[in-house]
Amino acid sequence: MTHSGLPTVTLPSGDKVPQLGQGTWRMGESRRAFDEEVAALRLGLDLGMTLIDTAELYAEGGAEEVVAAAVKGRRDDCFIVSKVKPENSTRAGTISACERSLKRLKTERIDLYLLHWRGSPRLEETLAGFEALLAKGAIRYFGVSNFDVDDMEELLSFPGGDVCASNQVVYNLRRRGIESGLVPCSREHGIPIMAYSPIEQGRLGRDRTLAAIAARHGVTPSQIALAWVLRQGDMMVIPKASSEAHVRENRAALDIVLTKADLAELDRAFPPPKGARPLDML
Ligand SMILES: NC(=O)c1ccc[n+]([C@@H]2O[C@H](COP(=O)([O-])OP(=O)(O)OC[C@H]3O[C@@H](n4cnc5c(N)ncnc54)[C@H](OP(=O)(O)O)[C@@H]3O)[C@@H](O)[C@H]2O)c1
Repeated sequence: MTHSGLPTVTLPSGDKVPQLGQGTWRMGESRRAFDEEVAALRLGLDLGMTLIDTAELYAEGGAEEVVAAAVKGRRDDCFIVSKVKPENSTRAGTISACERSLKRLKTERIDLYLLHWRGSPRLEETLAGFEALLAKGAIRYFGVSNFDVDDMEELLSFPGGDVCASNQVVYNLRRRGIESGLVPCSREHGIPIMAYSPIEQGRLGRDRTLAAIAARHGVTPSQIALAWVLRQGDMMVIPKASSEAHVRENRAALDIVLTKADLAELDRAFPPPKGARPLDML
């Protein structure tokens, strides 16, 4: 896979993926927006953001179809992440959900396949499904999403649970809860975090503190929000952008260096958690 010079995060296998990727939630919902969404993702690929996150849930498979169009002709340069819905996450359900995703994605393998969040099927069931998919080469890695510290500990207690390649959770200036427990736990076990909703679904773009810092750097508030998450060099970060202008801005956020004064100001406006906090979910 090529990364066009982007910083990378190392997965437990030793494979490297670009730190900055692209999300797709709310893509694939309208035929009218399809071409623009494909163009935005393709521009992101050109700029090195070759990790694309999607899910069977998004637009009931529609987002995976947008991804298929975006990676056409350049599949091997991309790292595709998709997710199984909790209600499908029995052993057999995981396998058939993955097969449906592969068809929509028009590919023979998903690079990283996540359990979207915990549902009623037992975790061992999902793990058995992931193992069968790994064995037949339908997925390269498996991982989880929205797993708190206790969920990770349970996962790690099962044989093969430690092969988990990533935990995708919400992390942004307004949602710093993971700093108190999940981040140290993930680092201890060498399982990298993938940060979703890094600009709080666009809402941080309207924040006054961010606007003031952005003005000093000559960038936008959303870029400051993104740069703040990206400063954690061992986390993958997956903003969603359906316009080419936003894609360019997000790539440029990698070049922003926040000063000590910026970081202190951000800590005052968005204080770090004081103690253990349950995991947020969007
Ligand atoms: N595992 C999970 O449970 C879970 C949950 C939520 C999200 N996710 C994943 O994480 C991805 C990102 O999270 P998200 O979509 O919730 O939120 P986000 O990336 O924080 O924000 C997306 C919103 O911000 C706007 N935006 C993007 N870049 C911008 C920029 N430079 N300036 C101003 N606005 C900008 C987008 O607008 P435009 O689209 O108009 O460009 C969109 O409205 C999702 O797409 C999905 O792949 C996973």
